[in-house]
Amino acid sequence: MAIPNNIGLDERGPASRLLEEYERKFRGWWGRRGPTEFLERSMRLRLPTGATSAAEWSKYHTMKPADYRWGVFMIPDARNEIAFGDHRGQARWNEAPSEYRSLLLQHICVQADVENAAVEQSSTLTRSTPSALDLENLFQFYLEEARHTWAMSHLLLTHFGEDGLVEAERLLERLSGDAENPRLLEAFNHPTEDWLSHYMWCLLADRVGKYQLHAVTDASFAPLARAARFMMLEEPLHISFGTLGLERVLCRSLEAMRELKSEDVFRAGAIPLAVIQKYFNFWLPKVYDLFGNDESERARELLRAGIRIPRNFREDAPGTVAVDRRSGEQIERCLVSGELATNTLMRRQFIAELQKILDRWNAVIRTVGIDFTFSQPHERFARRHGPCAHLPFDNEGNRLQTDASHQFFPSGEDLANVRGLMERKLGPEECASWIAPPGTRLHAVSGA
Ligand SMILES: [Fe+2]
Ligand SMILES: [Fe+2]
Repeated sequence: MAIPNNIGLDERGPASRLLEEYERKFRGWWGRRGPTEFLERSMRLRLPTGATSAAEWSKYHTMKPADYRWGVFMIPDARNEIAFGDHRGQARWNEAPSEYRSLLLQHICVQADVENAAVEQSSTLTRSTPSALDLENLFQFYLEEARHTWAMSHLLLTHFGEDGLVEAERLLERLSGDAENPRLLEAFNHPTEDWLSHYMWCLLADRVGKYQLHAVTDASFAPLARAARFMMLEEPLHISFGTLGLERVLCRSLEAMRELKSEDVFRAGAIPLAVIQKYFNFWLPKVYDLFGNDESERARELLRAGIRIPRNFREDAPGTVAVDRRSGEQIERCLVSGELATNTLMRRQFIAELQKILDRWNAVIRTVGIDFTFSQPHERFARRHGPCAHLPFDNEGNRLQTDASHQFFPSGEDLANVRGLMERKLGPEECASWIAPPGTRLHAVSGA
């Protein structure tokens, strides 16, 4: 059966043959590394229609995850000229030019790798799903993240010859968390073993995905831009799984705090705010790492080639950006050209966007009379990549003599308590104790 697509794929052409062959292997990966249960359960899942407008691009169907087919969908270019960089004004490239071939290949491989990794790191969550709707959302997440690998694999298979074939196969071999053959980016090698981690992941890492994808929606390599524009239609829902999921967690925690008049709400089957903060402290540094090095020659090359252009860069290109630079064991603050610091710029845009969400939550928490403020750890804290990697800082960015980051992370007891709450609830109207039912909004708790 033909691969679902909106790009006029010739059913008997070489691209279709390559994709059908790859689909067999891709299904093998899904069978080995994806979810193992509920594949035959009827769910309400959205599928691309082939349309490209924000209103009509998808439609919900009642179907089994086992019947989902990964398709190739793109949004065509509004104009044909390269938007930025050394080739600005020239025609966009439909094939990778030899001078940028390896840069593009590498970039696409990383984008593809993180998508499959996201499925692998969360594949056991079906065991502890808090409600039937959360299960549907989880499958939507699995299927669309896998489709994102599929979308990037399509580029590898059809534009990068033998090298692309080899890299597309590697995407099905690397495994999140594997000691021998891990996923390419470290953050994607940590399992999201409980639903609090999963919601954090959707709130944070899918938001990074939005930044990374947005930066290539105008890429000089047109097929990458077209694929990314369609992926950008899918991404907001994943982010909302995180935002709305965490708001439901907060609702339940705040309710329990008011009932018990205590912060220790584990005994009421809810999660203490301090433990939620520790989860932020654990996941955020890993997510900061996903933006890449503070100063990056590779990022500059991608920018000059017009491949990866951060949001607003064209309009407000900064002359200089203050970044950390490492000298031995010391960190110095330096001003570098905006072109070298696009990763830092994107990370700081992300931090500012996330802060608005935390400010909103903090306002509700204050409204109900609770003295607690969620915050983001400093961008130097607990980093594994970049100038501050493996140097000890506290969560406000102050240099320490010895590493004390574990104090800010969930303890073994916290993890055991959170995971002890995660029981599966799938009956109609059922929902686990630690989270408010689907559809509950945070402002409801304050009576606003
Ligand atoms: Fe994705
Ligand atoms: Fe996503």
